[in-house]
Amino acid sequence: MKFPPWTSVEEAARLLKQGEVVAIPTETVYGLAGNALESKALAKIFAAKERPTFDPLIVHISDISQMADIAKDIPEEAYQLAKAFWPGPLTMILPKKDCIPDLCTSGLPSVAVRFPSHPVAQAIINASGLPLAAPSANLFKHVSPTTAEHVAAQLSDRIAGIVDGGPCQVGVESSIVSLTGDVPTVLRPGAITPEMVKKVLGRVAIKESTSKPGEAMQAPGQCDTHYRPQVPLYFGEVPANAVLSENTVRIAFGNYQGVIPAAVNLSATGDMTEATAKLYAYMHDLDDPKYDLILVDPIPNQGVGMALNARLKRASIKTLP
Ligand code: TXA
Ligand code: MG
Repeated sequence: MKFPPWTSVEEAARLLKQGEVVAIPTETVYGLAGNALESKALAKIFAAKERPTFDPLIVHISDISQMADIAKDIPEEAYQLAKAFWPGPLTMILPKKDCIPDLCTSGLPSVAVRFPSHPVAQAIINASGLPLAAPSANLFKHVSPTTAEHVAAQLSDRIAGIVDGGPCQVGVESSIVSLTGDVPTVLRPGAITPEMVKKVLGRVAIKESTSKPGEAMQAPGQCDTHYRPQVPLYFGEVPANAVLSENTVRIAFGNYQGVIPAAVNLSATGDMTEATAKLYAYMHDLDDPKYDLILVDPIPNQGVGMALNARLKRASIKTLP
């Protein structure tokens, strides 16, 4: 494996200016960054991830004012959300400027923009002087990385650098809110909940994803099947009389009584933020061929729990084996 040693911020900026792709830490998950203004760099991102080009990328900036460099006709509500939640785990969909290549947006007239709060992400954006397109730094459909080691395990031989910024504090991808329609609409739940958006704007809609496990994506932006570990994962209540392989492992939540002893607990006190930060790391750790099945306890579908439920439903097999 090529990494570690990890890449420095200065080296990452140099590689990005040369059109290379580099994995960078953010507060949500690690991103695979490239120059958002350069189609060749974007093509390297899609190739390294084996990601289909109909799944558009998020562009990362390091100052609210840079939003106007890549988006146009920016509504007042975008500035209200930026003031409330940036830097942080919120992505906004806005009409795109011509400088953003079609490859970045999969041909859509809109662009996804995010100002991450991770100081290392900000330092890399600043040092490169570029808006950085960055999807999660995992192979397509795999679990997103929350440590530099997770990135190295999946992409080591395919990318120019990996910057280690420690474990991600949030642990799931950013909330995505579209501001291109009549009503601000949450397209992907995350740590910034619909309630939080509504508190700032006075209104919010939620779009249920049209893609279910095993079903084809119906429109760009709905492709969210990439949370699956290799070992089958089952999310939800398990009947007391279920017959489970002895190589079954359980991820607990709070003090829920599962059918087998828990290997790990997302949060013994039922704290959603703690659970969110740990989920992907546990999914990576337990995605080991020595297990036949990973069980995950039910998690209340409220607040940040909506983000966990959305990922776990997609990760889950539909019926127990
Ligand atoms: O937290 C995050 O958002 C992480 C870190 C690295 O910033 N990035 C991330 O990127 O999760 P990715 O590529 O895994 O998710 C990007 C998603 C697309 O799959 C799509 O759903 C949505 O963002 N998206 C991007 N551009 C869009 C657009 N113009 N319209 C609608 N949805 C868009
Ligand atoms: Mg992703």
